[in-house]
Amino acid sequence: MALRRILRGEDPALHKVCRPVEKFDKRLFTLLNDMKETMYNADGVGLAASQVGILRRVVVIDCGDGIIEMINPEITCREGEIGAMEGCLSFPGEQGYVVRAERVKARAQDRDGEWHEYDATELFARAIQHEIDHLDGRVYVDIATDPPEGYLEELENEFEEADE
Ligand code: NI
Repeated sequence: MALRRILRGEDPALHKVCRPVEKFDKRLFTLLNDMKETMYNADGVGLAASQVGILRRVVVIDCGDGIIEMINPEITCREGEIGAMEGCLSFPGEQGYVVRAERVKARAQDRDGEWHEYDATELFARAIQHEIDHLDGRVYVDIATDPPEGYLEELENEFEEADE
């Protein structure tokens, strides 16, 4: 495994639509292994292949329950709406308020080409949407909005309470 360089926000690769994966071969396995290592090394919860300059529909996510490799992922159902602060390894140190679906159903292939279905809420739902956006050349800053009035203050209070 090897660390790959994570491209920064202004890099043109981050604004291109990625192509589907057709070959489930050793090259894909190496990419997945490298992406996983790169994501963990950067303390991220998700990474899309375009962030390491590979314009293929490949994503890795770990929201604390172990690694999930998603190849050719697609969202099949969206429910509800929820806003939250969000960051991205391509925009280190930055955060923005993004409204996304509260729950999504998705399907994706694993490294053997088998399809799996996912029913996601909370951080996992947000990560899936964020990463699939990457595959479509969209980054979170494109869709971030001003948080509702009082939102950031409330967030700060929650942090303080959690510290006590
Ligand atoms: Ni990102």
